Amino acid sequence: MEKTDSRSSFSGRLGYVLAVAGSAVGLGNLWRFPYLAAKYGGGIFLFVYVILAVTFGFALILSETALGRMTRKSPIGAFEAFGKNRLRFGGWINAVVPMIIVPYYCVVGGWVAKYLFEYISRNSVSLTADDYFATFISSSGEPIFWFCIYVLVTFLVVMCGVEKGIEKASKIMMPILVVLAVIIAAYSVTRPGAIEGVKYYLIPDFSQFSFMTVVAAMGQLFYSLSIAMGILYTYGSYMKKDVNMEQATGQIELFDTAIAFLAGLMIIPAVFAFSGGDKSKLQAGPSLMFITIPKVFESMGMANLIGFIFFLLVLFAALTSSISLMETCVSTIQDQTGWSRKKSGIVIGLEMVIVGVPCSLGFGLWDFIKPLGMSIFDFCDFISNSVMMPIAGICTCIFIVKVVGFNRIADEIRLSSKFKREKAYRFCIQYLAPVCLVIILISSVLNTFGMIKM
Ligand code: PFF
Repeated sequence: MEKTDSRSSFSGRLGYVLAVAGSAVGLGNLWRFPYLAAKYGGGIFLFVYVILAVTFGFALILSETALGRMTRKSPIGAFEAFGKNRLRFGGWINAVVPMIIVPYYCVVGGWVAKYLFEYISRNSVSLTADDYFATFISSSGEPIFWFCIYVLVTFLVVMCGVEKGIEKASKIMMPILVVLAVIIAAYSVTRPGAIEGVKYYLIPDFSQFSFMTVVAAMGQLFYSLSIAMGILYTYGSYMKKDVNMEQATGQIELFDTAIAFLAGLMIIPAVFAFSGGDKSKLQAGPSLMFITIPKVFESMGMANLIGFIFFLLVLFAALTSSISLMETCVSTIQDQTGWSRKKSGIVIGLEMVIVGVPCSLGFGLWDFIKPLGMSIFDFCDFISNSVMMPIAGICTCIFIVKVVGFNRIADEIRLSSKFKREKAYRFCIQYLAPVCLVIILISSVLNTFGMIKM
């Protein structure tokens, strides 16, 4: 197995944990988690989510990180490092997923930047107009302008390198993100009428518990932890051998879950107070963040200030995630072609624009293009999240069981920790994770085609 000592690395555990936590904490935590939690019985959803995080989530993060650190390669190289085997295409799937995700993720990043700009310009009232969001995303020039700005920022951080770019940006953005999240959550739960929302969020409602609660929690966990998109292979390959992998993984999960929990506290009580307890407002899905939230802030007072803090928080969360997605793509190109970081970065930057612009135009000018009956944006999301990611995760499990072997993974983890959860890990990778992944794959495809309702 080839080891390149010249490979960049994070300076130590803190840098690594903040960078991976930055990758994990993203739009998924801030808008997806709160509305799923609200829909699937609040506290009970949270409970199932935490159980899955420490079993299924833990095993998959650890596996991808160990394979990355062991081989010092991004996903394709990691799968190829064990000789010719039929599972090598698993490396390709893991590597292609971020190339599909990062363009459309940056489209949403551009929307967030635009909203932040409007709050800075003290335009909170205009954001509350009913058709503001729809008009904005269906226009051509403006969303593309904000998308390009957002891509440029992501590009510049990635070009500065692992330690000076990604690690530094995470060390600045992540602590600020936590403080902002606490401020907004505190403000939200102290609004008149909000306490009913807090109760709704935290007190488990067992009558809402169903098999779908588990399926939804599983899907969200998978999405939220940035599993099966090559990121953890790549970041693992930048991890020093003396960093305690088991402990770092636990800290990353705690961070990600804590921010998702805080996001629930920010959004559910505020929307509850605003709507007088109307739960349907909470289940609005993606539009919650761009349509409902500006109205909620306007009704609570100090809208420009609160909106500014909230969208800055969302922007930081999104940026650290898009940086990790882009870094994974750049690292794969570098590993496969031997090109410089700059050249690989420019190629991926162009790819992001070439795929991202149609995703944005698909909401307006190009709305007649409907692959599988969906918008271009939804199609990219469907192919990557619903189809390729579960398959990539299944490939990782089979690869470990059939090709790499548990003992090699365990040896890698034991380089820096006692590997206390070894038995549980083996069980999860061999049985629990593949079963969960197959359920996620089937349910998300059926859900997209309207055959089940999630
Ligand atoms: N884990 C991040 C989030 O929760 O937003 C990043 C991410 C997840 C990006 C899923 C893309 C994606 F499809």
